[in-house]
Amino acid sequence: MADYAIETLGLTKFFGKRNIVYNLDLRVPKGVVYGFLGPNGAGKTTTIKMLTGALKPTYGEIRILDLEMPRERVEIMRKVGYMPEKPLAYEDMTVFEFLVYMGRLSGLGREEARARARELMAYTGVGRLAFNRVRELSSGQRQRVSFASALIGDPELLILDEPTSNLDPIGRIEFIGKVLELAKAGKTVFLSSHIVSEIERTCNYVGIIKDGQMIEQGRVKDLTRFESNDYDVVVSDNARLMEFLRDKVYVREVWEEEGILRVRLDERFAERFFTEVPRFIGENGLALKLFKPHTSPLERILMKRFNAGWEE
Ligand SMILES: Nc1ncnc2c1ncn2[C@@H]1O[C@H](COP(=O)(O)OP(=O)(O)O)[C@@H](O)[C@H]1O
Ligand SMILES: [Mg+2]
Repeated sequence: MADYAIETLGLTKFFGKRNIVYNLDLRVPKGVVYGFLGPNGAGKTTTIKMLTGALKPTYGEIRILDLEMPRERVEIMRKVGYMPEKPLAYEDMTVFEFLVYMGRLSGLGREEARARARELMAYTGVGRLAFNRVRELSSGQRQRVSFASALIGDPELLILDEPTSNLDPIGRIEFIGKVLELAKAGKTVFLSSHIVSEIERTCNYVGIIKDGQMIEQGRVKDLTRFESNDYDVVVSDNARLMEFLRDKVYVREVWEEEGILRVRLDERFAERFFTEVPRFIGENGLALKLFKPHTSPLERILMKRFNAGWEE
């Protein structure tokens, strides 16, 4: 048994002469929540279509749950819940009919499919839409139904292409909670997004793709280990803390900006910042009001790698 839920080797896709995905080695360990992060047009959807067998690679190998795509596509898709970027083709079915149909396709018996459809409509917040036709749904409602359909066969692996792109802010937060629940239940989740904060809140693994090529891949914790160099701190007496920090070996620079102390750390000694500052605050009876990295670590990696910027 391999340790990877998804593994690709040299995955490549040309459209005509354009190289859309190039030499991509995805490694998605079993049990992780993997964020496939990249700006619009980076090649995420093209990759995902190859993973799910909707598109044939120009070159490269794909193994999913120890099976080979596309040779063993049918077996693979029985174990995979897939949420495409443009969900739901069955415009004339009702939501309930659609989910039962998808449940039957994934191998459930009639009654089981019906029970599971009801359960998942409630879970994804579309219970009231059971007898609406798909064509009547808003884009956010479609995305919820599509999520339900991805879950219906109780898959080991979920492949979700920009699953929150049409959700409102509350829907996004709820969705993140659900993904974390699925991860707790032992599922592997692979999801694409171009929203850094969402990946940070949801994923413990990340692969960053740019122009069809992987530029970073690994555990978020490992990739961001040396990235949190600027810290924002607010205490009840900023001036006093600033005085304390000024000549410390772990501080490269410290200054105040709109009531917030910005501390640029020397990463070689950063550990001491995290032990000495809380001690100073405690011993001097200061109140701690804010203590956090100035930008998120993942954002810092992206800023280094995407000089030309990032389109939302
Ligand atoms: N069928 C196709 N034929 C030609 N070009 C395509 C096709 N599908 C996608 N592309 C191009 O491939 C690039 C990557 O698209 P896509 O995989 O959808 O990116 P993402 O999902 O990361 O936004 C884009 O430049 C897009 O225009
Ligand atoms: Mg896409």
